[in-house]
Amino acid sequence: GHENAYENILVETRERVGIITLNRPRALNALDAATLREVVSASTALDADPGIGAIVLTGSEKAFAAGADIKEMAGRSAPEMYLADWFAGWDAFTRVRTPVVAAVSGYALGGGCELAMMCDLLIAADTARFGQPEINLGVIPGMGGSQRLARAVGKAKAMDMVLTGRHIDAVEAERAGLVSRVVPAADLLQEALDVAGTIAAKSLPSVLAAKEAVDTAFETTLAQGVHLERRLFHALFATEDQKEGMAAFTQKREPRFTHR
Ligand code: HXC
Repeated sequence: GHENAYENILVETRERVGIITLNRPRALNALDAATLREVVSASTALDADPGIGAIVLTGSEKAFAAGADIKEMAGRSAPEMYLADWFAGWDAFTRVRTPVVAAVSGYALGGGCELAMMCDLLIAADTARFGQPEINLGVIPGMGGSQRLARAVGKAKAMDMVLTGRHIDAVEAERAGLVSRVVPAADLLQEALDVAGTIAAKSLPSVLAAKEAVDTAFETTLAQGVHLERRLFHALFATEDQKEGMAAFTQKREPRFTHR
């Protein structure tokens, strides 16, 4: 099991879905160094478990996460930030191969918005509020916000949010393409678990290849990306699950995938 003794997160599994819940209520789930270590540790362990096919990352009703921990950073010098390579540890979270669904209710600000954007797809409660308010602190986003927001919503809205610090609500976030679905707050976790369960029921090699292919769209040229996609597509014909999936279609039945 994954129910280790963490201090700032809760970890549980439901069938093939792992659930990581940020749980620092007194700081609205502000992401300090200890929380970073725990999220990376838990997500890496779930990623290594062949019994897990998708991960849900969520917070509380009031806050997914209200940012990086301002109090932990406030007094630090530039050399300290540089030598510690502050926030670089989050890169390990982005290397998780298992799809991660962010279920966002309430505040997703600064590092909270950036952490949500590190996930593969975002589902928002109608109470969600996204923002990059670092400009109000005399700094800028430091966990990838300027890059992932620009890719997700385009230059105009990214500049608007990063330069003014204004929050956007769930409706605006969906319209901008930051989130894939908005649901009533009471239904958020169930919706995220349904999506994660749907993904976890597919053949894992095709899921990992699909995620790798889409991620590559943000890292390379169109020609290179299309080339990688075609090679991954060809490689999947080496799996039993490709034979089973296509046989099940022609026989008008549900596939029984081996690699789940
Ligand atoms: C540390 C935080 C925090 C944070 C909230 N808290 N956000 N502590 N870091 N990012 C703490 C508060 O200090 C307070 O603790 C407790 O959580 C509850 O917060 P309140 O402010 O009392 O709640 P509320 O009035 O409801 O306001 C909610 C809020 C506000 C609008 C989300 O907390 C807020 O503006 N938070 C900061 C948002 C932000 O700027 N995030 C970006 C951070 S920088 P105490 O003990 O004082 O009562 C970042 C990127 C890094 O993420 C780049 C470098 C900075």
